[in-house]
Amino acid sequence: MAIQIEQALCIALTFHYICIIKQFKYRTVIFKIMEKLRVSLIAFACCIMAFFSSYAENIYITTQNTTLVIDATKGSELRYVYFGEKLAPTDLDNIGQAKTMFQMVYPPFGMVCLSETALSAVHSDGNMSTQLAVESVAQKAENNSFITTIRLKDKIYPFYVDINYKTYSDTDIIETWTEITNNENKKVVLTKFASAYLPIRKGDVWLSHFHGSWGAEASLVQEPLIPGVREIRNTDGVRNSQTDHAEVMFSLDGKPQENYGRTIGAALCYTGNYKLRIDTESSDYHHFFVGINEDNSFYDLSERETFVTPVLAFSYSNEGTGGISRNFHKWARNHVLPHGNQERKILLNSWEGVYLHITEAKMKQMMDDIAEIGGELFVMDDGWFGDKHPRNTDKAGLGDWMVNKDKLPNGISDLVDYANRNNLKFGIWIEPEMANTSSELYEKHPDWIIQAQGRDITPGRGGTQVVLDLSNPEVQEHVFRVVDNLMTENPAIDYIKWDANMSVLNFGSNYLPKDRQNRLYIEYHKGLETVLKRIRAKYPDLTIQACASGGGRANYGYLKYFDEFWVSDNTDGLQRIYMQWGASYFYPALTMASHVSAIPNLQTQHMIPLKFRIDVAMSGRFGLELQPQHMTPEEKEMCRQAIADYKQIRHIVQLGDLYRLVSPYDGSGLSSLMYVTENKDEAAFYWWKLQQFVNEHYPRVKMAGLDPERQYRIKELNRTDKSNLPYEGKIYSGRFLMANGLEIPYRHDYKCDYASRILYLEAVN
Ligand code: DGJ
Repeated sequence: MAIQIEQALCIALTFHYICIIKQFKYRTVIFKIMEKLRVSLIAFACCIMAFFSSYAENIYITTQNTTLVIDATKGSELRYVYFGEKLAPTDLDNIGQAKTMFQMVYPPFGMVCLSETALSAVHSDGNMSTQLAVESVAQKAENNSFITTIRLKDKIYPFYVDINYKTYSDTDIIETWTEITNNENKKVVLTKFASAYLPIRKGDVWLSHFHGSWGAEASLVQEPLIPGVREIRNTDGVRNSQTDHAEVMFSLDGKPQENYGRTIGAALCYTGNYKLRIDTESSDYHHFFVGINEDNSFYDLSERETFVTPVLAFSYSNEGTGGISRNFHKWARNHVLPHGNQERKILLNSWEGVYLHITEAKMKQMMDDIAEIGGELFVMDDGWFGDKHPRNTDKAGLGDWMVNKDKLPNGISDLVDYANRNNLKFGIWIEPEMANTSSELYEKHPDWIIQAQGRDITPGRGGTQVVLDLSNPEVQEHVFRVVDNLMTENPAIDYIKWDANMSVLNFGSNYLPKDRQNRLYIEYHKGLETVLKRIRAKYPDLTIQACASGGGRANYGYLKYFDEFWVSDNTDGLQRIYMQWGASYFYPALTMASHVSAIPNLQTQHMIPLKFRIDVAMSGRFGLELQPQHMTPEEKEMCRQAIADYKQIRHIVQLGDLYRLVSPYDGSGLSSLMYVTENKDEAAFYWWKLQQFVNEHYPRVKMAGLDPERQYRIKELNRTDKSNLPYEGKIYSGRFLMANGLEIPYRHDYKCDYASRILYLEAVN
């Protein structure tokens, strides 16, 4: 059958829906005919449905290149039938018989006891078992997306679980989330409430995930899945990507490959604690469960209350880990990020240049310096605020978001004006979710902080930092006002760096009632999202960076509201290659703030040459973070050149497709990647030598992502050597470059153990 019965039904129902919504011009004619026939389109559709009721009621969720098939037969359990490569019509007809899989979509505890489950609920009468069956299916078009909702109902209780899928016509990502509704007479306690479950067929399946710590975020770990339960989780309470990321890839055909091999990628889009479990037991599947971390966080659902889980975004590609990355990057740019298709400004941030020692003179001098070399934005970091408790050290001032008049006698507006007169935009640092005990805020509102009841506080940074309790609406209002007041007084502020340097160190809310303390982790993040939504609604044009002691907030839950994240407080050029490589698995370059800092490096004491530091920073959202006054004229000239060169390739890096070529984790002593524009007109190729051994032979790097039929002219950017590379200005076919690459010299003119190159490729036909 060319068109499936289900598809015909879907078309009929969608048409009916469109008629109603869009006031379709033939609507009246069609409805008149239906009236004559004494039947509505829905009734007609129902007749067909009844006629073909012997067919399994398959739902097809499709993206550009993938298909998800789910059996939603009424009164039965909801089951996965297929997920992968897009199915042809004949495959769709016979997919059930192919027995690709027949796993429950959302296994609840009680009738399934031997394995891990997605849901565990204690019903109003104490019954701990749940049995879900399909009740209805609804599909609707919404803007440029299509949403399918399958309603499941417990076989005994008025307890509902809605499974949702959202797809877009231009990307290969499926978003799924779950809504759990209690219509019982008393509360139901949820002790497990995953966003989703995915079965991964066994074989030689490898997991890629991202482990880290402060200063070493997003380190790539790749390992085969072995029997047992693999758990990746976060318990920070405030930040959720410092140690582990809530994203994973499954390579289904053995060791992960960049540009080939069937791969599934999944990212939980949430700002708070999460848990990813992969249960490898004795069946044919690895069972992957994803959702909020329910540890110390069970959720008691009141009567008539609905609990909505965070979204899990997932994707399939037969182009390996690189294919999954490109899918996520495109989705992020087109459907998640506030300004995903806009190029980002080149900035100077004051932190590593002056730390907390801000003065008006220093800020103006830094603005002069960055403007002179072609920068576009200046960001004043920590240290500008606090009146009674000046922010001179990290022990005081957080919470008191008034300007420190000793440091900035003419206030922020004077700095904003100064920036604008210099043709620069102005940005500012805040940490609005926090306070110091040495602050007027804490003196006024000691009950606004997170604190275990009746116990001493456990302070964080500086020995005095505390976290404000965002479950409290008054605190939410305060956090909103921090941004709102700044923006009302200084509407020309263009950029905010929003920091968060503390975890929940002891647990308790002064706001939540005694029987709701269990909700604190979840309510904190609901409160945070409420504030972020308000800010975004009122200030849609603001660029906002998510910083959390470095890369503690790299998650798509944040990137709905934030434009970018600070990858790490570790700005060492060499070590950034590893962290940015890991982060690039799910996040596009325009979200990765990447700055050139001074040497010896603050964190590592490495003495890495400026050329190398620039070449690394230029592979992300480029900026500087140093005191320009400490640079020599030659160094300033190099930065001026780098800024000019970055402007030439910014659209390729920030909006193009990423092809990772040689992984720094592979131990070849090299790393290389490239960005290619969607139309394959231009590309930017990066090459970094990671180590220097005598008689070491580095691999020649084959390019990727080019059009084999087109010719590309080569130009080196950021050149520091006296003479050109031999192929400067020469033209090669995409086919040649992808089969052979170009020989990159191991050294530069200057004596140094580091080497790096950036090549710009422009199609000439
Ligand atoms: C931690 C951030 O990661 C740094 O970049 C800097 O903003 C400091 N906080 C300021 O206190």
